[in-house]
Amino acid sequence: MNAALSPIHESGRTARYAQVVRLSKKSEWQIDRDLMQGRQFDFSRKFLPDGLSRVDALSFLTTCDARLLSQVQGRTYAYIFGLVERFISAKMLDQGRAHALDDQHALEALVRFTGEEIKHQEMFRRMEEMIGEQMPPGYRQMANPSDVARAVLAASTWAVLALTCHIELFVQSHYAESIHKDADLCPLFKDVFKYHWKDESQHVVLDELEWKDEHARLLPAQRDLAVDDLIALVAAVDGILQAQSAADVEYFVRNASREFNEREVAEIKSAVLGAYRWQYIITGVRHPHFGKLLTSMTTPAQMARIQAALAPILAA
Ligand SMILES: [Fe+2]
Ligand SMILES: [Fe+2]
Repeated sequence: MNAALSPIHESGRTARYAQVVRLSKKSEWQIDRDLMQGRQFDFSRKFLPDGLSRVDALSFLTTCDARLLSQVQGRTYAYIFGLVERFISAKMLDQGRAHALDDQHALEALVRFTGEEIKHQEMFRRMEEMIGEQMPPGYRQMANPSDVARAVLAASTWAVLALTCHIELFVQSHYAESIHKDADLCPLFKDVFKYHWKDESQHVVLDELEWKDEHARLLPAQRDLAVDDLIALVAAVDGILQAQSAADVEYFVRNASREFNEREVAEIKSAVLGAYRWQYIITGVRHPHFGKLLTSMTTPAQMARIQAALAPILAA
């Protein structure tokens, strides 16, 4: 019998799904009762910390403009999570369906995962409405979540699970290393990402289980095509970040407290694109656990292809 399908492995796997279900039930929360509690976002404070927004690199910004740029980026941060969660929830619905007639713990874990992502999307939609009411008009979202989901879900399951695992791992490091540590941020903004992080810390366990299972199912040639898909997905993410960062800089420049010269606008553009690549690509690919998983599921030649594709993004 293949070791990957041995009863011991199977019972260990089932126990991990069951543990995720237990933790998910234990830490269950509601948007209004536990998170919002009738609060509003505090515009006298930054939303996204400097460790993610990198606004501190723009030394010519006044305190007030640095705060505004952090709030614009914070608004986009919520929008991008809502966007990716559209395809993540749809994918996990499919993954759960595949377990429907076998491991009932896996089915329950993935159904709960899907439900939590649907709740997160509602949370981010409400956040966008609340922030939109307080900020000047003209902010634009450059990609439609369902269009993006349709395109992503056309890729191989291996690649979609790899991208999902990468996203849910960087959620962990963003919260633990930046958002949690910054005492000056808007309290409600911080709490949104605290509650989000709680659920995501269980999702990464499921991402890994599902990704490894899919990897075991594929033939070498299929894995090779899946690596191409992953490279294409990261390029598509980068395309969204380029469009959104350009729109966000335009919006910021229009609403800042003073006019900027050409050189300053170019610096802001470069800093915001760099910040978005840092947030949504680099912190994920540099996450130690993601690196370990990706290395274990690729050949050296495939890894070299991925690194070559990432090189321009990392260099910028
Ligand atoms: Fe989420
Ligand atoms: Fe998640």
